Amino acid sequence: MSIKLTDEQLMIQTMVRDFAREVIAPTAAERDKTKEFPAENLKQLGELGFMGMMVPPEYNGSGADTISYVLALSEVAYACASTAVVMSVHNSIVCESILRYGTEDQKQRFLKPLATGEIIGAFALTEPNAGSDPVRQTTKAVRDGDSYILNGTKRFITTGKNAGVIIVTVKTDEAKRHKGISAFLVKKDTPGLSVGPLEDKMGLRGSDTVDLLFEDCRVSAKDMLGEEGEGFKIAMTGLDGGRIGIAAQSVGVAQAAFDAAVQYAKEREQFGQSISRFQGLRWIIADMAVEIEAARQLMMSASAMKDRGENYTAQASMAKLFSSEMVNRVTAKALQIHGGYGYIKEYPVERYYRDARVFTIYEGTSEIQRIVISNHVFR
Ligand code: CAA
Repeated sequence: MSIKLTDEQLMIQTMVRDFAREVIAPTAAERDKTKEFPAENLKQLGELGFMGMMVPPEYNGSGADTISYVLALSEVAYACASTAVVMSVHNSIVCESILRYGTEDQKQRFLKPLATGEIIGAFALTEPNAGSDPVRQTTKAVRDGDSYILNGTKRFITTGKNAGVIIVTVKTDEAKRHKGISAFLVKKDTPGLSVGPLEDKMGLRGSDTVDLLFEDCRVSAKDMLGEEGEGFKIAMTGLDGGRIGIAAQSVGVAQAAFDAAVQYAKEREQFGQSISRFQGLRWIIADMAVEIEAARQLMMSASAMKDRGENYTAQASMAKLFSSEMVNRVTAKALQIHGGYGYIKEYPVERYYRDARVFTIYEGTSEIQRIVISNHVFR
């Protein structure tokens, strides 16, 4: 890796790598089968300081930088992509948004328990008819005294069932475009909030994805995050960080698929020798190694820019676009190298292939990343 890591970054990486490979990885295949939420793993990640990684110690966080965070997230994704997506949305979008826009009272009430992993956070932007174009969302919040009344449906919400608090974006002013969108912190069990059935997904099956239904759901005005009309900016800023997280997930899953493919190639013999001796296969492995390293460098450079306080929107989109497309190519090649064994569940590679498929879709499709990048080029 060209960037020299600090002792602290290396220590964090080693610690999470050991934990992820010893504790999280052994149950990943079972979770994929049963769709069981990795509650215990997340609790332990919280105890180790990985659920409030970039939150300062005064709010119970670890005060780590983004580079440490992406290293940790990649290691968790290497072991179990379902656990990693929960950790990613929680740290990158939920904790960071409250840290950035929350009042002191909100930080005390929400950020502190989030940062220890006592509760897990979710982010609800998407709706049945507003995915890539979230400005067209229709969930409404109408002021009523000291509260707002929320009505509408949010769709495909990661951790929607298991979260203790959800950042929900809503329209507070129909007449204004993105400036008519606000964000609220909504607690689980708030009357009027109900959770739809679990989606039966192709991959990331241990992470719950659900609809959230708001029916006359009353939320205190003091739980508005940021100012009225700031919801879209909060979401976009959160997604900048989130997209680096998806790059980290992609790098982790790709590395796992790569290591599995190399191991298999060394062991498998055909035509009287290890298949790793065939040049056709060695070139595929070389290309995979280059792609993973390129993605890792993009992830690291976007993280370093964020840590330096620079505008990193385009870099985050580049890292997300390249890494998520890369992991789809790499897992497909890893599966091919496994031959028939790649297609059966006894080997982990088919799970990597399925888990990776959504990375080019969520937190902004590849097409949306190209819009963000080209807008920066032509601005
Ligand atoms: N940071 C801060 N502000 C930003 C911003 C950013 N990255 N991007 C846009 N904005 C601001 C703009 O400055 C502008 O504000 P002003 O008017 O004050 O200048 C405002 O937002 C509107 O900007 P645009 O006109 O560019 O907005 P748009 O409607 O054209 O949309 C878009 C831009 C990039 C296409 C955006 O809609 C987008 O990112 N779409 C994809 C949505 C998405 O990623 N959804 C994922 C769902 S969440 C998820 O998947 C999580 C999970 O569970 C895993």
